Amino acid sequence: MNLSTAARAVRGSAIRDLLALTAPGRAGATPVISLAGGLPAPDLMPRERIAAAAAAVLTDPSAIQYGETAGLASLRTVLVDHETARCGRPVARVVVTTGSQQALDLVARAVLDPGDPVVVEDPAYVGALQAFQAAGATLHPVPLDTGGMRVDLLEHRLRGGLRPRLVHTVPTFHNPRGVTLAAQRRGHLAALAEEFGFLVVEDDPYDLLSFDGASPPPVAAHTDRVVRLGSASKVLAPALRIGWLHGPPELTAAVERLKQCTDLCTSSLTQAVTADLLADAGWFDAHLRHVRAAVAGRARAFTAAVAQHLPGATCSVPAGGMFCWLDLPGVDTTALLPRALDHGVGVVPGSAFAVAEPAPSAIRCCYASHPAPVITEAVRRLARAVSRRAPRALRAGT
Ligand SMILES: Cc1ncc(COP(=O)(O)O)c(C=O)c1O
Repeated sequence: MNLSTAARAVRGSAIRDLLALTAPGRAGATPVISLAGGLPAPDLMPRERIAAAAAAVLTDPSAIQYGETAGLASLRTVLVDHETARCGRPVARVVVTTGSQQALDLVARAVLDPGDPVVVEDPAYVGALQAFQAAGATLHPVPLDTGGMRVDLLEHRLRGGLRPRLVHTVPTFHNPRGVTLAAQRRGHLAALAEEFGFLVVEDDPYDLLSFDGASPPPVAAHTDRVVRLGSASKVLAPALRIGWLHGPPELTAAVERLKQCTDLCTSSLTQAVTADLLADAGWFDAHLRHVRAAVAGRARAFTAAVAQHLPGATCSVPAGGMFCWLDLPGVDTTALLPRALDHGVGVVPGSAFAVAEPAPSAIRCCYASHPAPVITEAVRRLARAVSRRAPRALRAGT
């Protein structure tokens, strides 16, 4: 079969493959506690409130009709208000997408021609890499540190002649590294976008999951050379498949045309449900407070268990979001994976997110998906899986 260049350019996501291996009920194996997927906790998703909203909106037949490509007016109104408040400047138009993953794909298709340079973080969100690869982009990785993307290194490359069309960043509670782009670096990135004429893709689905106070103002607060992406997946439920974007009008118009080719419109039903939930400000604020506090407790349980059972590991300290990036010095984490699964725990090896830097001893763990005692047990199992392979420093307290 002769596949297109675009289809051949996209590497499958190791993480989605792992989801199949760690799915509950897979035949004949120890049940696995998965820290692998970026799955919001089932027990924190507001199923009853979603059911009530669905019952209410289904009294109107338009809830199951085709809708406008740009999205349901009532949902766009709440999103415009939210983004205007977050960016500290008027946001005129928001386009609803089928998850923010669709926004990444549509933006890549709207802006990129084959061979165009795109700057990505290293390690990177794999779904973004796939969207850019499908568009034929040439990837230029820039490393991260505890303050997020090394914008100073990006500047160095730009001064050296690199001219990207797009610079992709996950600025808040990064997937997979867990770090947040420092306030000063957000301003710096915006200034570079203006000086060098590129567009920043501000991919910010974890923005609302801060454990303690608000995150720094978005990059879109500093410049309009940004397409900013949001998502309801991490704060409400991924199955709603509600994402959104806003940015330069020419771009959002192109995105709408491309979205017509892809799916005509996002589900009217889940848009109406999401609008109902987000517009109920008292309920939504209380829900967010509950989710943040619960996930913060899980993050504390995770880091405490790592300190106890894997004392040689270095672990980013989560301030929000769902992920912790663990370095297990001397451990080949790709080789560790089958052994970890045998011990009943799933994690993602750092290599799955690597663009240029191989991250051979790193793993990404999602601490958000299970209650604290389950997270602690998962780390115990991981430590047992590590203990046979690790250098002496890592073997303790298992
Ligand atoms: C950084 C980032 N962007 C986008 C997405 C896509 O999310 P969704 O399509 O559910 O909005 C994810 C999902 O994990 C993500 O981590």
